[in-house]
Amino acid sequence: METQTKQKLFEQASSWVLEAGENIRQQMEQPFKVETKAGPNDLVTELDKETEKFFVEKINSTYPDHKLFGEEGFGDEIKTLDGTVWIVDPIDGTMNFVHQKRNFAISVGIYQDGVGEIGIIYDVMADVLYTGIRGEGAYKNGKRLDSLSKPQSLESSILCINSFWALRNKRVSEEGIHRLVEKVRGTRSFGSAALEFAYVAEGIIDGYLTMSLMPWDIAAGIVIVDEAGGITTQADGEPVNMLEKNSILTSHKDIHKEIVSEYIELKK
Ligand code: IPD
Ligand code: CA
Ligand code: CA
Repeated sequence: METQTKQKLFEQASSWVLEAGENIRQQMEQPFKVETKAGPNDLVTELDKETEKFFVEKINSTYPDHKLFGEEGFGDEIKTLDGTVWIVDPIDGTMNFVHQKRNFAISVGIYQDGVGEIGIIYDVMADVLYTGIRGEGAYKNGKRLDSLSKPQSLESSILCINSFWALRNKRVSEEGIHRLVEKVRGTRSFGSAALEFAYVAEGIIDGYLTMSLMPWDIAAGIVIVDEAGGITTQADGEPVNMLEKNSILTSHKDIHKEIVSEYIELKK
């Protein structure tokens, strides 16, 4: 994508994200409907749906040739990443949104022919905007993120890991994950994949390992972590497929290989 086009698109996308965040902050003061989707722990609210519709309307009227791939299904049915595709999670961390009224984010990744060009993650209640433009760095509220250039060891790392996946999952051996948890300095779980990617980019956690994320959970985060100097793959080191569910390991470059080779063992 040409630099000028990309810059304009970034500015437009950022202003819509901030506007959507302001709408959420205002509307969450009023009672809103909470429903469940795949199960009792899979929540969706009216505001998730409204926020996705907001992006669909803006994109359709401003960029009719662009597509939107979103969690709530108001966008396009996406079978390929040809052209310009906005990959949107209107509220990432809905459980936090419902229970805590904070620690949730709007996540927007813009991909051109499958390449992540722009990533925007907005921590709505903290009013913190994490951004990345391919080839131009990662930023937090406009300030360049550069802490991933310092060396890092696994022993002094904080790893984000969801205890549910660490205890039981279909894909990798729990024994390896348990050794990993014992090896690192500490573990955390924030309940928003997008924010966990943003925190890796910021260097306030060193890695995030999880077993099942959808494209809208990771599209923006991958661009931002890449631009901050980190790396994202599936848990076993294989490349991520942006049209499917993936396991994810996103981290500082210095610890990525060691986690994959010493601690991740695929289940047969
Ligand atoms: C969820 C959050 C959560 C992660 C789940 C995601 P949602 O997204 O990112 O942290 O563990 O796998 O589905 O449903 O709140 O948009
Ligand atoms: Ca999500
Ligand atoms: Ca969501």
